[in-house]
Amino acid sequence: MPTLPITKENPPTAKLACVMVGLPARGKTYVARKVARYLAWLGHHSRIFNVGNYRRETVGAKQKHEFFDPKNPKFAKRRMEVAMTALEDMLNWFEHGCSSLDIPKPNGPQSPSTHWPTTVNGKNAGGAGAGGAGWVGIYDATNSTKERRKVIYDACVAKGIQVMFVESICDKQDIILANVKEVKISSPDYVGWDPEKAVEDFMTRIAHYESAYQCLGPEECDGKIPYVKLINVGDQVIVNKVRGYLQSRIVYFLMNLNITPRSFYFSRHGESVYNLQGKIGGDSDISPRGEAFAKRLPGLIKDNLGVETRLTVWTSTLKRTRQTAAFMEWPQVQWKQLDELDSGVCDGMTYEEIEVRFPNDYLERDEDKYNYRYHGGESYRDLVQRLEPIILELERHHEPDHSIMIVGHQAVLRAIYAYFLNYSLEELPYIKIPLHAVVKLTPKAYGCLEERFTVDIPAVDTHRPKGAASPTLAPLRKLPETTDQRMSTSQLDGPAMVAHLPVFRSMSSLEADRTYASSPRPS
Ligand code: ATP
Ligand code: F6P
Repeated sequence: MPTLPITKENPPTAKLACVMVGLPARGKTYVARKVARYLAWLGHHSRIFNVGNYRRETVGAKQKHEFFDPKNPKFAKRRMEVAMTALEDMLNWFEHGCSSLDIPKPNGPQSPSTHWPTTVNGKNAGGAGAGGAGWVGIYDATNSTKERRKVIYDACVAKGIQVMFVESICDKQDIILANVKEVKISSPDYVGWDPEKAVEDFMTRIAHYESAYQCLGPEECDGKIPYVKLINVGDQVIVNKVRGYLQSRIVYFLMNLNITPRSFYFSRHGESVYNLQGKIGGDSDISPRGEAFAKRLPGLIKDNLGVETRLTVWTSTLKRTRQTAAFMEWPQVQWKQLDELDSGVCDGMTYEEIEVRFPNDYLERDEDKYNYRYHGGESYRDLVQRLEPIILELERHHEPDHSIMIVGHQAVLRAIYAYFLNYSLEELPYIKIPLHAVVKLTPKAYGCLEERFTVDIPAVDTHRPKGAASPTLAPLRKLPETTDQRMSTSQLDGPAMVAHLPVFRSMSSLEADRTYASSPRPS
């Protein structure tokens, strides 16, 4: 995908620095990553500048708690220098655009990154509103004093960058201790440490920060700062002077976040009559094999429900998803938003027919599948916008013993799956979501656990790789002899499916810093 340079004709439409504030182990990095992923998924340019990573790269990972003591002038100066390097990098990123990606980084070479121009079929969509791209740098550090925040605020404002602070406050000791145990002692800071000693050291580190911590207040930075305070994981949310599209979207997203452990289940509808005929779109019935899958689905889900005792099934309004869910006894909700990508004038055609009747469109779609909008229909970009309420609803869902299952469509599930697993917008339209398989995702602090289940009912392969002929020309997928086997994503590509353990998809924090800028996913 060609990158549009930042020029007068193609200016970055909105620049926002989201500055995290909070004591250690208050979920700042967690929130930063969530926000970055959400914005990248919506087509904005987002990038995290994690000061902890800069520290590890420049002064080394294994610093004991003394390094964080504000009363130690030598270390305080060192920490300030590291924080300023990260700030400088963020300002450079805003100034030159990540498109150049030659900004020197202390944390290693940049992976190439493509930034999605805000175009729809070649035309600039403009604005940083719902259809336009904004630039959001997330400055992830404790930023625990008014003085430090003022430095950051002034530096950004001098460069025409809006600033919004996001403070996470948590005084629930059980949550803090759980956070330390879950993510902190397994960080590079404590490699090779005895876990108990590591917890002790981290708690002392927190105490150092507490000794100098100043909560955000409306009087700071000349009383002009927009901020949002998340108190005790969203029990209370305080919003101050938040304005504009990007800031409001981020605040609304933050208000829906929670950390309750839960899993989501996703399945495409059973094979449809149109799938068999190689046709796209429409509202056809499921085939006899699709119905066989539908009958097996309740048992498969029951067998694989974890601690959840309740389930709600979401379908689209189209017949094939409703027919697939027909044998499930759990409560069901139909969402218009979950309807398949609208293929406009091509609805009901095969790919061969489209190639003959709309040869230019056929090629254009292959060139830029994410942005290509069918005449009278939608693009993947449109679909992502349409699915935003679904994502927010999934994020908001916080009943620990209650899961959601979505019986959806290929394009729709690609978009949802890409959100949870941080696929780039280029990869999104090509993600493999086969028929007659169920994906279970369990979000974790810094990643997602993925399990896949399948049943031995054959189905056509509807995945069409870039530039390939119609997928229906491909032979039927070879399916295993046994039933309800678990498999990994990679094994879906192979000829046989072997029972396989769940896959944990994590990103190291360095990778995350690079990946969220809509860049290709690291292999
Ligand atoms: P540090 O300053 O040491 O980098 P941090 O504040 O960035 O710490 P994280 O690494 O993000 O802390 O902590 C992750 C943990 O925080 C996860 O276990 C996650 O469940 C939890 N968490 C997420 N959001 C919140 C929140 N709003 N308040 C408290 N904990 C949270
Ligand atoms: O202690 C937590 C931490 O994330 C460190 O890893 C990092 O060096 C520091 O906070 C960055 O924040 P500060 O601006 O306080 O130095």
